[in-house]
Amino acid sequence: MIDQATIQRILDAAQITEVVSDFVTLRKRGANYVGLCPFHSDKTPSFYVSPSKNICKCFACGEGGTAVHFIMKHEQLSYHEALKYLAKKYGIEVQEREVSDAERQLANERDSMFIVNAFAQDFFSRMLHEHQEGRSVGLPYFRERGIREDIIKKFQLGYSPEQRDALVSAAVAKGFKAEYLERTGLIIRGENNYVADRFRGRVIFPVHTLSGKVVAFGGRILKKEEKLAKYINSPESEIYHKSNELYGIYFAKQAMVKEDKCFLVEGYTDVISMHQAGIEHVIASSGTALTMGQIRLIHRFTSNITVLYDGDAAGIKAALRGIDLLLEEGMNVKVVLLPDGEDPDSFSRSQSASSFRQFLADHEEDFIRFKTRLLLEDVQGDPIRRSALISDVVQSISVIPDAIARSVYVQECSRMLEIDERVVLTEVNKRGGKALQQPVARATVESVASQPAPDVAVVRNRQKEKLELDILRFLVRYGKTELSRYTDEETNEECCISVGEFILSDLEADHLVFSQPLYQTIADELKKHLSEPDFVASRFFLAHPDEMVSRLAAQLVSEKYQLSKIHTKYQNVEKEEDRLIELVPRVLMAYKDYILQEDIRAAQKHLKDLSPDSADEMMETMARLQELVERRKLFSQRLGERIVLKF
Ligand code: CTP
Ligand code: MN
Repeated sequence: MIDQATIQRILDAAQITEVVSDFVTLRKRGANYVGLCPFHSDKTPSFYVSPSKNICKCFACGEGGTAVHFIMKHEQLSYHEALKYLAKKYGIEVQEREVSDAERQLANERDSMFIVNAFAQDFFSRMLHEHQEGRSVGLPYFRERGIREDIIKKFQLGYSPEQRDALVSAAVAKGFKAEYLERTGLIIRGENNYVADRFRGRVIFPVHTLSGKVVAFGGRILKKEEKLAKYINSPESEIYHKSNELYGIYFAKQAMVKEDKCFLVEGYTDVISMHQAGIEHVIASSGTALTMGQIRLIHRFTSNITVLYDGDAAGIKAALRGIDLLLEEGMNVKVVLLPDGEDPDSFSRSQSASSFRQFLADHEEDFIRFKTRLLLEDVQGDPIRRSALISDVVQSISVIPDAIARSVYVQECSRMLEIDERVVLTEVNKRGGKALQQPVARATVESVASQPAPDVAVVRNRQKEKLELDILRFLVRYGKTELSRYTDEETNEECCISVGEFILSDLEADHLVFSQPLYQTIADELKKHLSEPDFVASRFFLAHPDEMVSRLAAQLVSEKYQLSKIHTKYQNVEKEEDRLIELVPRVLMAYKDYILQEDIRAAQKHLKDLSPDSADEMMETMARLQELVERRKLFSQRLGERIVLKF
């Protein structure tokens, strides 16, 4: 954890224009700077940088925020990593939570293991190019496979000589402890302290972490030898957990964000060949099914994944099973089936880069549709296998978290399978707790349209959220700004009330709390700090240690955020700051009016649900309803007027 004072120092030092300029060419426009957005393919400059607010924002794709948010997005770092990146750049010492001796010891050991790996990677690369064996067998191997020199460099491919202890003796000569080579699995220790390089006589594929450190190696034999495994890999260790790493992620992450998509392939050579064909958003599962950890890693960068299958039927069926986990995590899954006998590596090399890319674009198919079609071809009128197929497809649909996507698939698959949609729907609903609404309502498109919209409650909640954000926006932007001055009649003293004080006490008087915990956190923290002498709300929240808070603050501070429509009819040239006395009470009232409406709806519903013999309660409820309606009338009158507040 980095404390807030340090985050504040980092943000103060990291001038937004300077940070952005490292990656984007900026031109001055008025008080701001503009440039081409680095987060989407921008044709005209949409990326705005505001030195005064110290934030940036793309008005086309919406990306942006403080310097920290910019670096997070651009360099694909976590909040914490981005803060450290900027701290380093601006020479700010980062105050972190105290670490225990045991923690420090462990951190040191992990560091040592990474250092040993870095040494080994460099060693293998040098051997490939400099060692006689590397030059006579290693390099020709890559060349024969058509791998270019720039790609060999980029992926840091290497060669481990046949000599039993080539690596370990080079490492020890450099002062590395054999212990660390053993713990990273670079060497194997046998009886009588006999040590040997694990990867000897193989070409080397280093595996990089998300941040580009070498965490493991894969080694491939050069010749076809039945006795030996084609690939051997680093064993699990303190630093290497196979299920958390993904081959290629370091080289793919930027393109994954930019393309908002990734390709999933099986192996090292598939990733490498696709890069060579100009496709960088590609990662490999290394021949096994993806784990939850790996899927989450992918999901940090994109929700869209396209799985490339080799064109052999047995392989595909085995691979189908792994996909449900992706669907469950809410990923949109597509599939490309490669021609028979081809894997992405062989197929991409069999043609030009552009025709390969075209093939992928032309042959992409939605996963569920693909699976249904594939299995259908397979069962051909065998009723027992057919029912197994249906339950297989239903299973995949039922894990999809998004209800709308699920119902679209229900429709489509019932058509493909020629079964009544309600049957499919019932089956989907039977599995897992993510049930869809009543089957009959969705029988035809028309009837869906004529149904009362099912998500009214959600839409209403969004309205409420919008109103709450309006209020938060004033809290974050103008928390400590003076709203009004008045003279206390008793003491005759001049008093001043801030926007924050006004809003918070107003909400408190009506016992109102925000519907989202995040929003309420902001209100609570503001209350806590408002009385501090140098407190500036926007500055405080932008530098908040909680990433969610700082993000929301950046959104609220940037111009893009619009007041909900109630304000638009009063649009004029005055600046918002000069109209706080009018705007602040207005957003509060719009919010409270909404809550009144909610109460009215609830009372009406209650009235409808009452049994006819509870006359007393009915009278009571009607009276309450009457009162609420009256209050609302008053409210709407005041909302329609221009309000001048007097204290
Ligand atoms: N793999 C592995 N160990 C093995 C076999 C495979 O770790 N004994 C992993 C590797 O990551 C490999 C991937 O599974 O890249 C796919 O295996 P395969 O298709 O057999 O290898 P290719 O990548 O096609 O390698 P090559 O083209 O060199 O045969
Ligand atoms: Mn292959």
